[in-house]
Amino acid sequence: MQNLIFTNDVLPAITRLANGGDHNLTVWIADVNTARLINPAPPRLITIPDGDDNKTLGSVSRVWDEMERMGVTRRSQVINLGGGMVTDLGGFAAATFKRGVRFINVPTTLLGAVDAAVGGKTGFNYNGLKNEIGAFAPASDVIISTCFFDTLPVQEMKSGFAEVLKHAMLSDRNEFLHLLDHDFNAPINHDDLLERLRRSVQVKVDIVARDPNEQGERKALNLGHTIGHAFESLAMKRGKPVPHGYAVAWGLVTEAVLSHLLLKFPSEDVHLLGNFVRDNYRDFPFTCDDYEELLELMRHDKKSRDGEITCTLLAAIGDYRINQTVTPDDVTAALDILRDHLGM
Ligand code: GLY
Repeated sequence: MQNLIFTNDVLPAITRLANGGDHNLTVWIADVNTARLINPAPPRLITIPDGDDNKTLGSVSRVWDEMERMGVTRRSQVINLGGGMVTDLGGFAAATFKRGVRFINVPTTLLGAVDAAVGGKTGFNYNGLKNEIGAFAPASDVIISTCFFDTLPVQEMKSGFAEVLKHAMLSDRNEFLHLLDHDFNAPINHDDLLERLRRSVQVKVDIVARDPNEQGERKALNLGHTIGHAFESLAMKRGKPVPHGYAVAWGLVTEAVLSHLLLKFPSEDVHLLGNFVRDNYRDFPFTCDDYEELLELMRHDKKSRDGEITCTLLAAIGDYRINQTVTPDDVTAALDILRDHLGM
């Protein structure tokens, strides 16, 4: 069970965990940017290069070397301060060092706070495959705060917000409608956003508690991702990467259309979501010439089986169905509707 702390008074919360408890030493892991957030720098700080490109075995190995040099033992604790790259990689390095050192996640991005830092997935990219090597290993504590977000680029806020929308679609129509009023150009309302995070993270926590190792129900958290990952991978292959959450936002609309076609998900909600995504996640970089390649990527998605395209779909907001097989014709029709809606 992870201890989740939601607070905008983050320093005292971190200090309490860093100084309290029965551990012999605390090591921090941060990337080159988030390392600057800790002032003065803690005595034991391991800094890793930023960016998903550096989420590699080489980086894990350098973290292990530093932990060895600093004298980390099983009685030590690690604090991971950063986005998903830091919490995934730092969590894996801690969970495997001397068969497991306790670690605390302090996510500094919206995407990290609502997804990567919570739920126990850790790992790194390998042989060109994202998160190919890893382990389920939950952080003992996660400190969730919006205080880091004032300086986040709006693109990063939008990217994380797609996962917040996903959690609302899995659980609560009123929350979904509330989120659709969000204005990314307005200054952050920290109290409201912290409450949105509390609700959003709870959806994930509840699902993960019932299925921690993703044998069944946890696949619901894949909503928007079978198709979203295909967008993300194709954009990456073309050398024009898109933020993860943009691909998820487009995936959510496409899978909402599929849900309408196959499970009668209400068209009103497809339109509300489609309008929000059109207004906030424009610049969809694909045409009908890309459909075959996108379908091929979907067939090879980690969560698809036997070359079939498998998605989580919705019969209504909060009523999800995992392991839904969709045909290439269904996907093609949904992609046409998505492009039409986005005006591309
Ligand atoms: N990101 C989805 C999960 O943690 O299962």
